Amino acid sequence: MLKKYFIKTFGCQMNVYDSSRIADMLKKEGYEETAKQQEADIVIFNTCHIREKAAEKLFSDLGRAHIIEQERAESGKRTIIGVVGCVVQAQDDQIMKRAPFVDFAVGPLMYHKITEILQQINHRKEHENFVLTDFPAISKFDFLPENKSQGACSYLAIQEGCNNFCTYCVVPYTRGAEYSRPVKDVLTEAKRLLATGTLEINVLGQNVNSYHGEDENGKERDLAYLLNRLAELDGLKRLRYTTSYPADMNDDLIACHKNLRVLMPYLHLPVQSGSDRILKAMNRRHNSADYLKIIEKLYKANPDLRMSSDFIVGFPGETDEDFTATLDVVNQVKYIQAFSFKYSRRPGTPAAVMENQVEEKVKKERLEILQNLLFDYQEKFNKSCIGQTMPVLFEQKGRHKGQLIGRTPYMQNLHIETKRDNMNKIVDVVVTEATTNSLSGREV
Ligand code: SAH
Ligand code: SF4
Ligand code: F3S
Repeated sequence: MLKKYFIKTFGCQMNVYDSSRIADMLKKEGYEETAKQQEADIVIFNTCHIREKAAEKLFSDLGRAHIIEQERAESGKRTIIGVVGCVVQAQDDQIMKRAPFVDFAVGPLMYHKITEILQQINHRKEHENFVLTDFPAISKFDFLPENKSQGACSYLAIQEGCNNFCTYCVVPYTRGAEYSRPVKDVLTEAKRLLATGTLEINVLGQNVNSYHGEDENGKERDLAYLLNRLAELDGLKRLRYTTSYPADMNDDLIACHKNLRVLMPYLHLPVQSGSDRILKAMNRRHNSADYLKIIEKLYKANPDLRMSSDFIVGFPGETDEDFTATLDVVNQVKYIQAFSFKYSRRPGTPAAVMENQVEEKVKKERLEILQNLLFDYQEKFNKSCIGQTMPVLFEQKGRHKGQLIGRTPYMQNLHIETKRDNMNKIVDVVVTEATTNSLSGREV
């Protein structure tokens, strides 16, 4: 009988991409995916360390996995439990202490070793766990098996790691220094995805616009160059890139929003705070004026472009005045979508030991105010789409028969009822209804 694997993914799009690459590896070894954890011979948790809550979730999941493991053992079935991702890189000792039944823990840069580890586990005499948290000199991308499309929208990691060291953030510690994949490798992967059904590619990196991969002649190239090369590929209908760092938005990249037809008119460009004092304490290399200037240039390059962002409220030392400056930025940019978080103290980061921590109550109040404002803009934008015709890429079946869910160019979720087979196709839809979170429509 085929052995089965189950992967649960937390965190960012990079983790979603990594999980799919790990799945490719397991499939190559003859494993089959299952959505039921009870059936799985291998259970993998791909973890996120960005905020405290995300990391804590892992331990409750591991507790449950251990119970299932024991139940399966009663009927003679063996279960291998693995933890991968950013929590491993930050806290492998904690994992092995709190959950010693875990069979392997592998950090984000060592996934290519998972097959080897599974072989070792299959040959071990008694429980012994494997922990791999190196930052190797080689790139895991060179050792992962070839991937294919799993639908019409695909992620493609082009860059990993971060050198920015924002004072609140764990990513530079969990993903290491910036690494950019060579242009040729990115194009090869993109062509393979396009040949197997992909219409939309979202190129990913923790700091994607600092991309500086080598081209075929060994010359370093930036993201704008790479997007231009990708845009030439046959079959590509939509192109996106996430996540960008404001100080790395150069003019060539901004020009892509004018020149590249396939580049979608939606950009996630996190500002974090609108207060220059706080941005400085965060070690961000931009102030609010720089940020607004970039957005002005972007809007000029493509007047249809709309923005999204991430925000942190209650960073150490944030006053009411600082917070108001954040609201001011929101009122100027009028984001159509955004993620906002209460500052979370992460061990080992400089901000965690800053003295002027903000009270939980204040953080909560500010988050509510900010989110209400963000939701207002989001709803306003969604409502303004009513009556418009938009090309929608359908990628998911809805709950009812005939219902499909797709994405507009602005990443809004849109539902339709249809008798046609529109799955994995781009179809023109008239928007008929809108709420804060989604749109409905009908085919033109
Ligand atoms: N590389 C991306 C995003 C990284 S993490 C960037 O630079 O924008 C995603 C988001 O999580 C961040 O943009 C930030 O808003 C949030 N975040 C990161 N560390 C956090 C912390 N300690 N507390 C609260 N939110 C945090
Ligand atoms: Fe974290 Fe800042 Fe790097 Fe983004 S740019 S991953 S927030 S350190
Ligand atoms: Fe989380 Fe790591 Fe992504 S900490 S947000 S999974 S890079």
